[in-house]
Amino acid sequence: MNETLVYSVGGLVALLVAVLVALPATRKPTLAALVWACMLVRRAWWWLRFRITWKGLARESGLSKRRTKRVKRMGVGEESIEKWRDPRLKRVITSSHSVTLKVRTRRGQALADLEAFAPKLAATYSADSYRVYPAKRRAGSTVMFELVMRDLITKPATASMPEPRMQTSSVLLGRRQSGKPFHLQIEQRHTLVVGASGAGKGSFLWGIVGSLSPAIAVDAVRAYGIDLKGGMELTMGAPLFTKIAVKGEQAVEMLQEFVAIADARTEELRGVSRNHKPGPGDPLYLLLIDELASLTAYADPEIRKEAERLLKRLLSIGRAVGVVVVAFVQDPRKEVIDMRGLFTQTIALRVRSAMETNMVLGDGMAAQASAHRILKAAQGTAWIIDEDGSTDRVRADYWPDELIRQLASLYPATPDLVTISDAAPGQLPGMPLSLADGGVR
Ligand SMILES: Nc1ncnc2c1ncn2[C@@H]1O[C@H](COP(=O)(O)OP(=O)(O)OP(=O)(O)O)[C@@H](O)[C@H]1O
Ligand SMILES: [Mg+2]
Repeated sequence: MNETLVYSVGGLVALLVAVLVALPATRKPTLAALVWACMLVRRAWWWLRFRITWKGLARESGLSKRRTKRVKRMGVGEESIEKWRDPRLKRVITSSHSVTLKVRTRRGQALADLEAFAPKLAATYSADSYRVYPAKRRAGSTVMFELVMRDLITKPATASMPEPRMQTSSVLLGRRQSGKPFHLQIEQRHTLVVGASGAGKGSFLWGIVGSLSPAIAVDAVRAYGIDLKGGMELTMGAPLFTKIAVKGEQAVEMLQEFVAIADARTEELRGVSRNHKPGPGDPLYLLLIDELASLTAYADPEIRKEAERLLKRLLSIGRAVGVVVVAFVQDPRKEVIDMRGLFTQTIALRVRSAMETNMVLGDGMAAQASAHRILKAAQGTAWIIDEDGSTDRVRADYWPDELIRQLASLYPATPDLVTISDAAPGQLPGMPLSLADGGVR
């Protein structure tokens, strides 16, 4: 039987089942039941639509290959018949807001051909956004296309008080386009966050500092800040920082201090461990630089040169020994940050052009991670590259001034705790009770 017919019949049965399952809920005419019923029907409809139209689309867009075969038929003679080889749509997975297609290459097809098809696929089905990532099994020949049919991150969200746990490896910053939580790895990473003025870099900055604040209070993290825009951004949460540099000379001094710490740690850990594990009294040193260009491009030439030298050294030696940098910058042009390659993860908020997206995320990334298309009104929205090399769109929560002040008074930095790392956790001064048992690391 024709495959399209099978899917049509199967899909209609699925649709019918969805309606029948949904019906009892609609008898109790509560709004939630109606929403649930509509969602079920919509998911069945999506499944059906993708199954039925996949082959036609693949053929029209040149993904499939046509072969003409000559066959002999009794009584008719020789006849040519057309045969298509299509990339195989292995699975269609629907959720309340997205459709994920698992597709395997046809014979003789490169995986890159399938990946490059993603923008056309998204446009054909009017998806708000999409991402492509390798399948867990047969990653060499199978890709997953996630099409976001309803954007869950159009509405901004406000951050709430972080859980009082000592968390140093990663921080919860907001949501992914799939609606799942977005965690950013902090330990073992140098992070570069790029976004035009007003793109929402502050949400990433305070998301990181705010989420780490319980760890800051027990000296498992020491945050230092460089804010050469007159300290405008960082001073609001000043008590969370061990030090803040607001002048070029102070910034250079701070960088020297960081390089010295990284050098000492390297000596200490040589032959003992390849990766530093932070804990109270043996902290992760975190250097936050708001507007990197004010240090490496717009400062006095001497300061600029020295800062650049120190920062490059820090970026090359600090990561494994628990001395990490998170830098924020508006302009990704090469002359502004030629140490871009030394950052181990980059995040692109709204930027001005596809060229800038490529500069931040890597050559050719603008096609699958269109940071230059993020709307001005979607502050805090960014494209990231995950560990497996796939791209994803995220939105950081907004941190109101009041929340930052509250955190600063609840979890101030306590550098004097360094010397008392051996004391029982419950005896650490100023430590909230819930942190006394060490929390989760
Ligand atoms: N996550 C967010 N959700 C909603 N609105 C946000 C978010 N982040 C920021 N905003 C809004 O956007 C404005 C600008 O954000 P922010 O100050 O973080 O930009 P920026 O990228 O740091 O700009 P600049 O480079 O000029 O400092 C904020 O005042 C706030 O009103
Ligand atoms: Mg800012």
